[in-house]
Amino acid sequence: MTERIPTPYFLLDEPILQRYFDMLTEALKENWPNYRIGYSFKTNSLPWLVNFYKKQGAYAEVVSRDEYGLAKYLGFQDSEIVYNGPYKDEQSFRDVVLAGGYVNVDSKWELEWLTKLSEELEEEKILTDSSGNGEAGREKKTRENGKVSEVSEIRVGIRVNFNLEQMCPGETTMGETSGRFGFSYENGEFAKALSYVRALPHVRVTGLHLHSSSKSRSIQIFRSIAQMACRLKREFDLTLSYVDIGGGYCGGMEGRPEYPDYFPAIAEELHREFDPEQTQLVVEPGISLISKGSFFVTSVIDVRDIRDTRYLITDGSRFNIDATMIKSSYLYHTRLQNPSASVMDRQEITGYTCMECDRLFTMENLPELQTGDQIIYENVGGYTISLNPLFIQYFPAVYVRNGEQMTEVRRKWTAKEYVQGNIW
Ligand SMILES: Cc1ncc(COP(=O)(O)O)c(C=O)c1O
Repeated sequence: MTERIPTPYFLLDEPILQRYFDMLTEALKENWPNYRIGYSFKTNSLPWLVNFYKKQGAYAEVVSRDEYGLAKYLGFQDSEIVYNGPYKDEQSFRDVVLAGGYVNVDSKWELEWLTKLSEELEEEKILTDSSGNGEAGREKKTRENGKVSEVSEIRVGIRVNFNLEQMCPGETTMGETSGRFGFSYENGEFAKALSYVRALPHVRVTGLHLHSSSKSRSIQIFRSIAQMACRLKREFDLTLSYVDIGGGYCGGMEGRPEYPDYFPAIAEELHREFDPEQTQLVVEPGISLISKGSFFVTSVIDVRDIRDTRYLITDGSRFNIDATMIKSSYLYHTRLQNPSASVMDRQEITGYTCMECDRLFTMENLPELQTGDQIIYENVGGYTISLNPLFIQYFPAVYVRNGEQMTEVRRKWTAKEYVQGNIW
C-alpha cells in the first residue's frame, strides 16, 4: 500500500501515537490524578496531530501570538490555552488571562500588562460597588471584546529560571551558562517579580512554570524540577493551584525512561509540599508523545559514482528532518526492491538540495541500493515538520496510517500554497 504513495512524505502511525498518549494519561492518573496536559505546539503543530490530542482533552501549550492564533483557529477556547514564552502579545495575553487559561509570565513587560489589568479591575470594582452590585453578585465570567468584565481576580503563573545544572551536573542543555527564560531565582529577579505581582490588587500568583530543557531527559532532572517547586513554595509561602513542570521527557527511546518511570518520582517529591486535591500538575509534552509514531519516507532518485565515492541522491533532504543540523546519526530502515543485492562497503546518503551539507549518513557494508529503493527515517516527529524550510521543495505530504488505511492529512504544498498571501 505505502509503496504506491509518491515519496517523500511524513507518516504518522495513529495506533502508536495513541499508545503513547494513553501511557502518559495512565501514568498521570496513577501518580497525580489532578493533572492537565498542554500539548507543546512548537514540537509539531500539524493540525491533524493537534486535533488528535485536543479530542482527548489536551490543552494547547503555545509560545507566540501565531501559535495562539492556530490554537484558536483549531477550536481551543482561551481557557484551554497554556501560554508560555517571552514573545506573547498583549491582546492574546489578556484574552487568555481573563478567560482563566494558564498564563506563565516570562518577561517584564507582562508585569506591565498585569498592572494595567489590575487597574482596570480596580476601576470596575469601584463602579460595581457604587452601583450596589457588590462582590456577592459578581459571577466569574470571561471577558468580552478585550475589556475586563465580571472577572473578580486574575491568576497567573511565573516562569522560574533556576540553576538546574547545579542540581544535575552535566545533564542540562545550557550547561554552566544559564538558560534565558523566566525570572532568575538565584539573582533575586524571581523574588522581585513575585513581590511585584503580589502588590497588585486583584492579581494572584497561583502557578509556577519550571520547564527546563536537558540533554539527558533523566528521571533525576524531573525529580529536581519537582524539588525546586517545593523549595519555592516553602521559601515564598506560595499557595499554588498548579505546578507546571513543562516538557522534555523521553518516549520510545531504547533503554531510556518512559512516562511510567518519571511520574512516580515527580509525585514523590511534590507530595512533600503539595496535595493533588489543591494543586494541579501541568505537563507540556511534545517529542515524547510523537517520536515513536512518526516516520519520513524517502526514495533513492539517483545513484552516482564520483571519483571513488558512491552517492545516493534521495528525494528527502537533511533539511526535512534535521533543519538545525545537529543530528549525528539517524534511525532508519530500508525497503529494497532487491533484498539480496550485493553488499557494498560505503554508500553516502544525500539530499536533493544544492547545499553540500545536505548529506545524511554513510551506509557501510550494506546491500547496494538502487533508484526507487526507500529509506524510511524513524523518530522524526518532533521539531522536524515544524522546522521544515520552504527551500527548493515545498512542504511534503503527511499521511496517517491506521492499520491498512492511509489518510492524507496534509497535501504536498505546490506553488499554489507557496504564493498564498503574495501579490506580484
Ligand atoms: C516551555 C516548553 N514546554 C514544552 C516543551 C516541549 O518539549 P519536548 O518536545 O522536548 O517535550 C518545550 C520545548 O522546548 C518548551 O520550551
